[in-house]
Amino acid sequence: MSALSILLLGASLFGSSVIVASGFSISATSASQEASELTLSSNVLTLSRKTSAKGYNARSAAYLLGLSRANKIVVSNHTTVLESLFIGEEFATNITFGTEIFEAIVDTGSSDTWIVESGFSCIDLDTGAAETEAYCEFGPTYNVTDTFSQIPDENFNITYGDGEFLTGIVGYEEVTLAGITVNQTVSLVNYAAWEGDGTTSGLIGLAYPALTSAYAGTDPTLDNSASGEQIEYSPIFQTMYTAGLVSPLFSLAILRDISGDSGYLALGGLPPVDINGTFTSTPILITSIDGYLQTYDFYTINIEGITLNGKTVRGSSGATQYIVDSGTTLNYFPTSIANAINRAFVPPAVYSDDDGAYIVSCTATAPSLGININGTIFYTNPLDMILLAGTGEDGNDVCISGIDDGGSDAAEDVYILGDTFQKNVVTVFDVGAGELQFAAREFYESNDPVKV
Ligand SMILES: *[C@@H]1O[C@H](CO)[C@@H](O)[C@H](O)[C@H]1NC(C)=O
Ligand SMILES: *[C@@H]1O[C@H](CO)[C@@H](O)[C@H](O)[C@H]1NC(C)=O
Ligand SMILES: *[C@@H]1O[C@H](CO)[C@@H](O)[C@H](O)[C@H]1NC(C)=O
Ligand SMILES: *[C@@H]1O[C@H](CO)[C@@H](O)[C@H](O)[C@H]1NC(C)=O
Ligand SMILES: *[C@@H]1O[C@H](CO)[C@@H](O)[C@H](O)[C@H]1NC(C)=O
Ligand SMILES: *[C@@H]1O[C@H](CO)[C@@H](O)[C@H](O)[C@H]1NC(C)=O
Ligand SMILES: *[C@@H]1O[C@H](CO)[C@@H](O)[C@H](O)[C@H]1NC(C)=O
Repeated sequence: MSALSILLLGASLFGSSVIVASGFSISATSASQEASELTLSSNVLTLSRKTSAKGYNARSAAYLLGLSRANKIVVSNHTTVLESLFIGEEFATNITFGTEIFEAIVDTGSSDTWIVESGFSCIDLDTGAAETEAYCEFGPTYNVTDTFSQIPDENFNITYGDGEFLTGIVGYEEVTLAGITVNQTVSLVNYAAWEGDGTTSGLIGLAYPALTSAYAGTDPTLDNSASGEQIEYSPIFQTMYTAGLVSPLFSLAILRDISGDSGYLALGGLPPVDINGTFTSTPILITSIDGYLQTYDFYTINIEGITLNGKTVRGSSGATQYIVDSGTTLNYFPTSIANAINRAFVPPAVYSDDDGAYIVSCTATAPSLGININGTIFYTNPLDMILLAGTGEDGNDVCISGIDDGGSDAAEDVYILGDTFQKNVVTVFDVGAGELQFAAREFYESNDPVKV
């Protein structure tokens, strides 16, 4: 039985340079997974286990429509169900390349859409040794057909925040996501150092063009040099809205409940879930990366504060920039804040260097956590503050805190609101308006049989 493990997949800007909250590491506690050192950037997802879909809730949709009229956002006709792989690890959805259907990870923390190609070379991430295809644990591989046309003299090369890396070719393909078909620049991966889930074959990147990973030339080792400059392209969602196929916003609802759908990605509108209250908006920021990149890249916002048991907690620097990332399982806060929150569990959660996470009793009482966005405090359900992480050597459940250490606390650092936060809100990525909008979800219990 696989246990929850935590992924942090995200594009590293400029090849190997890492953005965001400087290095933190986390390792999967599942016995079947090797510990992986992760430095952050953006990422991948989390949550439930695959089971049957429970379908849309008509009342919810009607209710939401009523509310959303006031907000001028309507329920999307282009919604795709998310499913979760492993327990709490990642969210994936269906995507069609030509006539072949794949499951791919939904990632708001990177911008490339890629699928692994039949005959690819699999590399052991730790040793660099060549391995069998099966070793990389992808789902079905893509067989090139005539719907794909390669762009000559370009290559794809990405390293994610956890060190996994891929290279491949770049081209145009007829891609369908949530019922919308576009002629999209994609990559086909032919060289992969990847630790897959046995189901997904690629990734759908929903962030901005600045993070795309196509480079001039055919030799990836020269990427980011004078002869291997980045060649930005329009990521899939941008292609859709610039073609007028959908309004320039998408929304995500990530569900806690693993016994049904794991969530929804809704293009052009809202997902069919109940919300409690109205939307709060805040501008999407240009992430400060040493002044390097003067354009949108991640979905970064300022938060006004974090409340712990009703009191505002501050880090030493007052850092306020957070990436809102569906792809990150946990929230990553400045060290001092993460420590304060984890000390407030009863009994306290204790940081484990080995695991890169705070270990907590599965039956602990979680503190009240609130995130203040533009004056509205979004509370985190205590159910999301303790995650089952695996089974210890003694056969007992091991749990981790939903809040992790995002590294030293410098004012310019950027931290992460991951799925611990996202399970409690609907997030509208309003690219057209340059805003993120959040609404609290109605309180919902989990049917998750493994939840403590
Ligand atoms: C969704 O489809 C319905 C029925 O075809 C249409 O009336 C409505 O305008 C569509 N909504 C959006 C947001 O496109
Ligand atoms: C993905 O596609 C497969 C094959 O068409 C289908 O059985 C499955 O229900 C789809 N999954 C989702 C989440 O839509
Ligand atoms: C690609 O071809 C291989 C070998 O014929 C096959 O096993 C695989 O299922 C094909 N992939 C898809 C997505 O159809
Ligand atoms: C997609 O667009 C490119 C560039 O315009 C073109 O070369 C290619 O044939 C198109 N592919 C499809 C399947 O329409
Ligand atoms: C990817 O690009 C970097 C430079 O940014 C290069 O050092 C690396 O070798 C490339 N990866 C592969 C697998 O060629
Ligand atoms: C707060 O919301 C208002 C109204 O939507 C918006 O104009 C303003 O930019 C927001 N401010 C911050 C700091 O998010
Ligand atoms: C809606 O939000 C209010 C205020 O935060 C809370 O008291 C109430 O319990 C919530 N209702 C539901 C159904 O979640």
